[in-house]
Parts: sequence; structure tokens; C-alpha cells
Amino acid sequence: MTSDSAPTDTARVESAMRRALSLATHGPAVGANPQVGCVLLAPSGEIVAEGWHRGAGSDHAEVDALAQLPDARGLTAVVTLEPCNHTGRTGPCAQALIEAGVARVVYAIDDPNPVAGGGADRLRAAGVEVLGGVLADEAAELLLPWLTSMRLGRPWVTVKWASSLDGRAAAADGSSQWITGTASRQHVHEQRAAHDAIAVGTGTVLADDPSLTARGDGGELLPHQPVPVVFGATPVPETARLRQHPAGLIELAHRDLAAGLAELDAREIRRLFVEGGPTLASAFIRAGLVDEVLIYLAPMLLGGPRTALDDVGVTTMSEALGLSIRRIDTLGNDLLVVARPTAGGH
Ligand SMILES: NC(=O)c1ccc[n+]([C@@H]2O[C@H](COP(=O)([O-])OP(=O)(O)OC[C@H]3O[C@@H](n4cnc5c(N)ncnc54)[C@H](OP(=O)(O)O)[C@@H]3O)[C@@H](O)[C@H]2O)c1
Repeated sequence: MTSDSAPTDTARVESAMRRALSLATHGPAVGANPQVGCVLLAPSGEIVAEGWHRGAGSDHAEVDALAQLPDARGLTAVVTLEPCNHTGRTGPCAQALIEAGVARVVYAIDDPNPVAGGGADRLRAAGVEVLGGVLADEAAELLLPWLTSMRLGRPWVTVKWASSLDGRAAAADGSSQWITGTASRQHVHEQRAAHDAIAVGTGTVLADDPSLTARGDGGELLPHQPVPVVFGATPVPETARLRQHPAGLIELAHRDLAAGLAELDAREIRRLFVEGGPTLASAFIRAGLVDEVLIYLAPMLLGGPRTALDDVGVTTMSEALGLSIRRIDTLGNDLLVVARPTAGGH
């Protein structure tokens, strides 16, 4: 019998799932594969093994946790993503759990991958008790880029711009260095390193000749370098700095954003950081292909015609694109607003 102070099974399972979610974040935050964590619980509710996925080609979280124990019979596996049901670079986790003799599998979100899904059914068919949907929202937040790729066939798209408080990306003469301060610029470098690719339009390449590397405080290259991607029909000059980028260069050589995203998805790019300029950023917004915006606002007024965005497809107030603000941070003297389009865009 459960005493009043003893945690219920639901509380124990949710607490174990929180631990599994935390373990998931030990895995690589960039790259093709999802971050997944797993804990194994004894019938008493005690965690007896932990595992997580360390990236493409390495053991999945369930197999990593099972490998910690000589005998997993009768245990409950708590895992952040439905155990996979296919043999890819590693074997199917559902089968590994069945063979290990676990009694119950609790997971957060269904695997939407048509190739890998169906693990829950396979477990049930083998007589394992299965419970899905535990802390599903938390797990989905962690897996957003990967889920976007699986569900929509395109990367998660973050659009960034820097502007004065009155929304100008440059002064009337076109000068724009530097609107924001060092803390904002350093934050942009960290964001680059947290994405798989960075996109700019040919206008930015020709105007600024950017290197688009992710650099630390001292100018050193950060360990992860996202690959630069250029949208637009104009060829990238042979002498462009982008051609020296350590991660290579993807020239899409067209303006078709949806096709470009599909091409990037086929290269297993899950997170795209769109750095502009205004024309490309506006085109992404107009096409409804933006998942999050990062707006760096500097405490200055510039006035004039050089707005951070141009035509986003809105001609009247009722068409305004609604955003829900997730965070507002102070970076030195600047503000960073992180927001996502509201469902339906209004
Ligand atoms: N404040 C900021 O955060 C920020 C960030 C980046 C850049 N900038 C500034 O922005 C200025 C450049 O602005 P920009 O707007 O010309 O640059 P851009 O957005 O980088 O490039 C515009 C070009 O992208 C190509 N393109 C590709 N796909 C497109 C699509 N779907 N729709 C429309 N065009 C597409 C077109 O060129 P093709 O003819 O080649 O197809 C277009 O002319 C620079 O001065 C730079 O310093 C500011």
C-alpha cells in the first residue's frame, strides 16, 4: 500500500523522465540525430542505470543505459523518445529492450520518423507494458529542430536581425557597423555555433564579404562551425571570404526558399540560422518558413529608409503577423527579443 508521503507511480515516472530529459542534453546539440536520454528504474522506483545518445552512429540512449547493467529483467525503461523500430547505423531499440526483458517502457513523444516509428507497437506485441506521452511538451521543446525535419521535411529556421530601436538595420547611407555592441555580437557567434548552417542572401555576400565563422571572445574559431549557405542567383565571387570557410560552402544559386530548405534537409541540416540581410529575412517571413526570430535591438534611433525588414506580405493591420515573445534578455546595452510566430501567423 502506498503511504501518503510515498511518491505515486506518476510522480516517480515524471521525475525519472525529467532526469532522462536532462541526460538527453549531454548529447550533441547540433547534428542530424535527436538528443535522447533514458533511465532504467527498479520496481522500487530507484534509478539503476542511465544512458544518452552521443550522436549519429553511436548507441541509442536505451542501449547505452542497458549496457550499464548485467540484468535488466523486470525494470522500467523511461526514455524521452519512443524507442526506434528499425536498423539504421545501430539496431532497433525496441528489440533490445524486449531481449533485455524490461517489463515496462515509458516514453515522452512518439517517433514521427516513418522509417523508425512503431517501436511502441512492437514492444506491446512482445508483452511489454507501454505508456507514451509523459512530459511530452518538455521533450518536444528539446527536439524541435529534429521534429521539424521529421514532420515538415525542412530544418528549424531561426531568423536573426540587428536593428536600432526604431527598426533600422543601417543608417541612410548604408553604414551599419556596428549597430549592436560586443555582447550582442558575441551572442550571435554562440548562436551560429548552435546551428548546423547559416544562411545569407547574395546581397549580404556582395555588400559585406562576411566570413560567417563562429568565433569566441578572442576571435578564435569555436569547435563547431556551421556550414554557410547562400541563397540567390548571383554567383558568389571567387575571392569571397566564404570560400575559405572551414565547413565549406553551399551555394543554392536560386531564390526558391522551400526547395532550398528541402535540399538542406536532405543533407541532414536540422537547424538553419538566417542572418539576413533584410531581403532574405523578409522573404523567409513572407513564405511562412520561420520558426523563431532573434531580434537584437540597440539603444539608438536611425530613422530613414533602411528598415530591418521590407515586404513581409502584410498590407493591412488584420494581416499583421503575430509573435509570441519567449524571452527578453539584456546584452550589454542592447536588448534581445526571442519570439515565435503565433499559430496561424496572427
Ligand atoms: N542588420 C542586420 O542584422 C543585417 C544582417 C545581414 C545583412 N545586413 C545588411 O544588409 C545589406 C544587404 O541587404 P540585402 O537585403 O540586399 O541582402 P540579402 O537579403 O542578403 O540578399 C538579397 C538577395 O538575396 C537573393 N535572394 C535569395 N532568395 C531570395 C528570395 N526568396 N527573395 C528575394 N531575394 C532572394 C536575391 O539576389 P539574387 O538576385 O542573387 O537572386 C536578393 O537580391 C548589407 O548592407 C548588410 O550589411 C544587415
